[in-house]
Amino acid sequence: MKPHILITGVSRGIGRACAEHFAAAGWDVSGVARNATALASMQAQWQRDYPDSHFCPIAADLATPAGRAAVPPLPYDVILLNAATYTPGKLLDTTTDHFAELLELNVLANHHLARLLLPPLIDRGTGHLVVIGSLGTDTWPGNMTAYLATKYALRGLFLGWQKDLAQSGILATLVAPGATLTSSWEGETPPENILPATAVAQLVWDVVARRTAGRIVIA
Ligand SMILES: NC(=O)c1ccc[n+]([C@@H]2O[C@H](COP(=O)([O-])OP(=O)(O)OC[C@H]3O[C@@H](n4cnc5c(N)ncnc54)[C@H](OP(=O)(O)O)[C@@H]3O)[C@@H](O)[C@H]2O)c1
Repeated sequence: MKPHILITGVSRGIGRACAEHFAAAGWDVSGVARNATALASMQAQWQRDYPDSHFCPIAADLATPAGRAAVPPLPYDVILLNAATYTPGKLLDTTTDHFAELLELNVLANHHLARLLLPPLIDRGTGHLVVIGSLGTDTWPGNMTAYLATKYALRGLFLGWQKDLAQSGILATLVAPGATLTSSWEGETPPENILPATAVAQLVWDVVARRTAGRIVIA
């Protein structure tokens, strides 16, 4: 049977680059995003460019209970928790309602998905949980503090998952990229040394191929 990766936030940016990288290596990919049209166009791309890989689209809003419940708890070989929303802005300018929206997707959805998706891997005793964090939790640029507070909370969840999974046979890796050129940067001036999403995808591939656990930074 071919290896199978589940990727949240698969339709653009880092998630899309990871999907294409694993598909090119012959892995099957299940991918979650809200935009069903984008997912359908990915399916067409898969038939054309990655005939050795099956792409399973999951059109779901992970900020909602119904969307989270739409993700099937299969015994994936790799679970890549990548989906998040980024909005720039100083903390005192961020409304509580908006902060709650960020927390819902960037933190609570991942807690829910870990509880839903990890048990089949634990039963089997193998698998790899890869989480996309952020280098910003080390540097805390002031124009993205609310977003980074959610990524810091995710870093805390990751430490918990590491402990919970320590004796399970499941590896846990937190990949923390610096600025990466994706649609997250629309409307902003990206820094000159910004990473391409393919560089993060290569790192995710490497940590899976080399069975690397712990927190890994790329900038
Ligand atoms: N770009 C950077 O500079 C950077 C740096 C460090 C870390 N990161 C992290 O890298 C990860 C990916 O970021 P990115 O820049 O690649 O993002 P992106 O280009 O904005 O893509 C986000 C992906 O998530 C999906 N998504 C958004 N909201 C969703 C929801 N409610 N339910 C399901 N899917 C949803 C989007 O598809 P739909 O819109 O169709 O739902 C899209 O596929 C995030 O965890 C981010 O925090 C990014």
